[in-house]
This record gives sequence, structure tokens and C-alpha cells, in this order.
Amino acid sequence: MRADREYTQRFSVSYEYPVYFTDDVFETGNPIFATALSRIDPVRAGRSFFVIDEGVIEGRPRLLEQLAEYVEVHPNLELSAPAMVVPGGEGVKGDPRYVEELQRALIDHHVDRHSFVVIVGGGAVLDMAGFAAATCHRGLRTVRIPTTVLSQNDSGVGVKNGINAYGAKNVLGTFSPPCAVIDDIAFIRTLPERDRRAGLAEAIKVALIKDRAFFEWLERSADRLDAFDEDATAEMIRRSAALHLEHIATSGDPFELGSARPLDYGHWAAHKLEILSGHRLRHGEAVAIGMALDARYAVTSGLLPERELMRICGLLERLHLPLFDEALVEADILIGLEEFREHLGGELTIFMLTEIGRGIDVHQMDQGAIESSIRWLDGRYR
Ligand SMILES: NC(=O)c1ccc[n+]([C@@H]2O[C@H](COP(=O)([O-])OP(=O)(O)OC[C@H]3O[C@@H](n4cnc5c(N)ncnc54)[C@H](O)[C@@H]3O)[C@@H](O)[C@H]2O)c1
Ligand SMILES: [Zn+2]
Repeated sequence: MRADREYTQRFSVSYEYPVYFTDDVFETGNPIFATALSRIDPVRAGRSFFVIDEGVIEGRPRLLEQLAEYVEVHPNLELSAPAMVVPGGEGVKGDPRYVEELQRALIDHHVDRHSFVVIVGGGAVLDMAGFAAATCHRGLRTVRIPTTVLSQNDSGVGVKNGINAYGAKNVLGTFSPPCAVIDDIAFIRTLPERDRRAGLAEAIKVALIKDRAFFEWLERSADRLDAFDEDATAEMIRRSAALHLEHIATSGDPFELGSARPLDYGHWAAHKLEILSGHRLRHGEAVAIGMALDARYAVTSGLLPERELMRICGLLERLHLPLFDEALVEADILIGLEEFREHLGGELTIFMLTEIGRGIDVHQMDQGAIESSIRWLDGRYR
């Protein structure tokens, strides 16, 4: 006689993390960082291990001294070791040695699960160091201090990390929400113009998928954003971050178990373009091209009115973001579609706009229509 049995194991874990917006987080009089740590752990000292993007230090050569002074005047803080400085940019996600070096340092310096790994840097450093921290002791606490437009308005406030491997982007990584995020506008002042501009693409993306009023604000503010006006930039970052946060909290799928991925609008082509261009294109630039491509495709398939497409392309142009790149015609971009499906792990699901601020999921894309959309972009925006 068979004696099959079944138990159901069930529990849930809720996540909550604050996202602060400030100016000059390590100015000794700024309480946010010290308070953030003591709010998470009021009993123990905020024992912190800092990982810092080299590009940030180049922009702010006094940062390490400033940090030491900050720790000095805040008795609840303590450093486990001198800060570890790592190269910034995509290269740090492409070589596993950086993850290993960081994991080794975390273990050597006895960074335990009650300590904090504080990551200060662009999206690439946040992704790499977040992955290293998530895999040490099965997950160390992280505090993220994103230092680029893109990481402040998108990646840094989210729940993912990862590195590139086996010729594909972000294939190794985890879902691990941070303990706190601090967006500091002071870091944006030292960011090169190209990166400030690239980050605008993710704000346009989240406006396109969720918030027509925000898109219209971006149109009205385009000249100020193009000139890097600080008030406009700060508002763009804050509104974009808030929309990303709201989506993660309310979409019902924070850890992406399903196949729908609206926040990845325009990203199937973008991820492939980044790889095909040998990372000549920044992530945000590739996203701008990917969004233009998918918007044109949506017009070709009768989903999106042409006047909406022209508004989208018009905004990208006014912000001097690219709408075309050689890599779109030189290599087989369509492979990106299959890779995207594999990354989703199920049925191909691509978000397509039906109007600015709204869209639907489609489950297949027509090769001929993709090719004609590429030709359309080539004809206008090469
Ligand atoms: N985890 C996610 O959910 C998610 C979402 C979107 C994008 N991403 C990833 O983010 C990465 C792109 O991030 P990014 O756009 O922030 O660029 P980046 O991290 O590649 O940084 C670009 C350059 O800016 C430098 N830098 C960073 N901050 C600076 C500062 N304040 N002053 C001067 N220089 C500074 C860096 O050293 C680097 O050279 C990509 O790898 C992308 O895949 C991840
Ligand atoms: Zn993106």
C-alpha cells in the first residue's frame, strides 16, 4: 500500500526600506546616513564596510576623508575596514575577479549579517557589489548610495543585482532588497555629461509605461533637463524613482516570478545592443534606441498612433539621446529576443505601448516588422 504524504510549507516575509533624497550625505551635519543605520538596528553599532566606485572618488577626491570625519562625529557608526575602491562602469560586472575580491574582503574583515555593506557608486558597482554581498553568508545587509542618474532614478531603488557572464548581461544575480537607499544629488554634480544624459532614458521609460502626466512634465522640462538644470534633474530623479518603487510594490510580482516585465520596456533590444556594441553604448543610450524601436514597431503593428511615436522620438531628440546605432544593422539583433525570453524564463512577453502612459503585453514579434522598424530609424536618425 502506498503511503504518500504532502505537507504544505507556507510563510511570508515582508520587506520595507526607506529611500532618502538628500544633498551631501557625508557632510558631518547631515544626519540621514547615521539615522538610517540606527533605525534599522537601534541596538548594535552601525558597523559598516564601504565599497566605493573609483569614478566617484575621481570626482570627489576628498570623499574618503569626509567619510572618516563623518564616522568620527557619529558615535553609532564604526568601519569594519578601510573602504574598498573598485573600478566603475560595466567592466566591473564583466570580470568575476571583482566579486571574488570583494567576497574575500568581506570574509577577511568579518562582515557579518548584522553589519552593513554600504555601496557607493553607479549601477554597475551597485550590481556587482550587491551580488557579492547577497552571496556572502547567504545575504549581508546592504545600504545603497547610488551616484549616477540611472542608479538614482531606477536601478538603485530596486531589488535586483547581478553580473554579466557567458556572453550575456545580468545572468548571474539575485533578488535582494536593500535595507536603505540614499539618493544624494551632490554626486550627480561630478557625473560626466554623457552619463547624466543616459540616465534620462529610464525616466522616459517609466513615464511611457505608467504615467502620461510625468511624460508631459518631461516634455515641458526638456530644455532644462537638457541643460542639466539641478532643480529639474532632482525632480526627474525623484519622480522616476517613486514610479519604479510604486511598480515594484504594487505590481504583485516584485521578484519577477511571472513573465510580464513592463519596467524592461525597450530592453530586449537594449541589452543586446550593449553587448553587440562591446559596451560602447551606455545602458541608458541603448534603452533610448530600444524604446524608439519598440515604439515604431507598435505603430507598424497598429497598436500605437503615429503621433504618439513622434512625441516619443521628439523628446528623445530634444534630450540628445540616440535613436539609432550601427549595431542595429550590423549584427543579428533578433537573437536578443530569444535571449530575453530565456531571461524571463517562460513565454516571450514584451511590453508594447498603445498610448503614452499605457500598454499591453504581446507574446510574439514579427521579424519583418522589426526589420522595417530598424530601417525606419536608420532612415531618420542615423
Ligand atoms: N539592477 C537593476 O535593476 C538594474 C536596472 C537598470 C540598470 N542596471 C545596470 O546599471 C548599469 C549602468 O549603470 P549606470 O548608468 O549608473 O552607469 P555605470 O555604473 O556604468 O557608471 C558609469 C560611469 O560613471 C562613473 N561614476 C559613477 N558615479 C559617478 C559620480 N558621481 N561622479 C563621477 N563619475 C561617476 C563610473 O565610475 C563609471 O565610469 C548597467 O550595468 C545596467 O545593467 C541594473
Ligand atoms: Zn534599464
